[in-house]
Amino acid sequence: MIGIFDSGFGGLTVMKEYLKKYPDFDYMYLGDQANMPYGSHSKERLNKLVVQNIEFLVKKGCKMIIVACNTASADALRHVQQIYKGNPTILGVLVPAVENALDKTRFGNIGVIGTRGTINSNAYEREIRKYEKDLYKPKDKRANKEVKFYQQSCPLLVPLTEEGMIKSTVTRMMLKKYLRPLKNAHIDTLILGCTHYPLLQKEIDRIMGKNCKVISSAMSAADAIGDYFERHPDVLKSISKNSKRIYYTTDCPERFEDLGSRFLGERVEGEKVEI
Ligand code: DGL
Repeated sequence: MIGIFDSGFGGLTVMKEYLKKYPDFDYMYLGDQANMPYGSHSKERLNKLVVQNIEFLVKKGCKMIIVACNTASADALRHVQQIYKGNPTILGVLVPAVENALDKTRFGNIGVIGTRGTINSNAYEREIRKYEKDLYKPKDKRANKEVKFYQQSCPLLVPLTEEGMIKSTVTRMMLKKYLRPLKNAHIDTLILGCTHYPLLQKEIDRIMGKNCKVISSAMSAADAIGDYFERHPDVLKSISKNSKRIYYTTDCPERFEDLGSRFLGERVEGEKVEI
């Protein structure tokens, strides 16, 4: 069983990508709605919540855990990887998105958008700097020698998405405002560094235009897992494959069902649990 968790429903965009690629696997999803949004917690509080979520999923028998939340991946992944030391395997969503962006960028102008927590942690930039020497291959003679990296926090996009205002004028206006500095910097690759943003991708694509590739961290994470399994066949073997899906939420199941169904694109019912 693969465990996937997030602060609420957003991680279902990540689960959706996994389901497309690996429908046979058994999945257990935990939405920690009672403690959302993660984007505005301190690092200490986030570490605590992430450990709680992992403990819950481990006790339920998950052999591999995906930290679907960008904010939690940015701030707490290393902390929990050090605690659990590979048992279970715990993976985040930042590195696959960074690898994908470094591979795709033409001129080496990369941007990321995320919650305040993700952007303030500077974790995306750290990963870019860590991997750029190996992965950045300029594809044009006008390209930068080193990657130029731009970040923008977009605190209103999570509440707007959750209110279902995906196509509203307000959301469009906020997107234009948030994306303007990145557009002015002529980025050619944009990472959607938040679970909620794939729902806004059509409008983001439109605003950024055809010269900017938009990369979702959700899709990148699911795409990268094949390589991971090739390197770790033992982990692949340990995952049960009966196409089971189990959904838990730490708060109101009705809201989980309503928003979760929108994020996953199919009906979900979450059982309320105390963790
Ligand atoms: N899941 C969070 C992320 O991907 C967004 C929602 C929240 O702040 O809890 O950063």
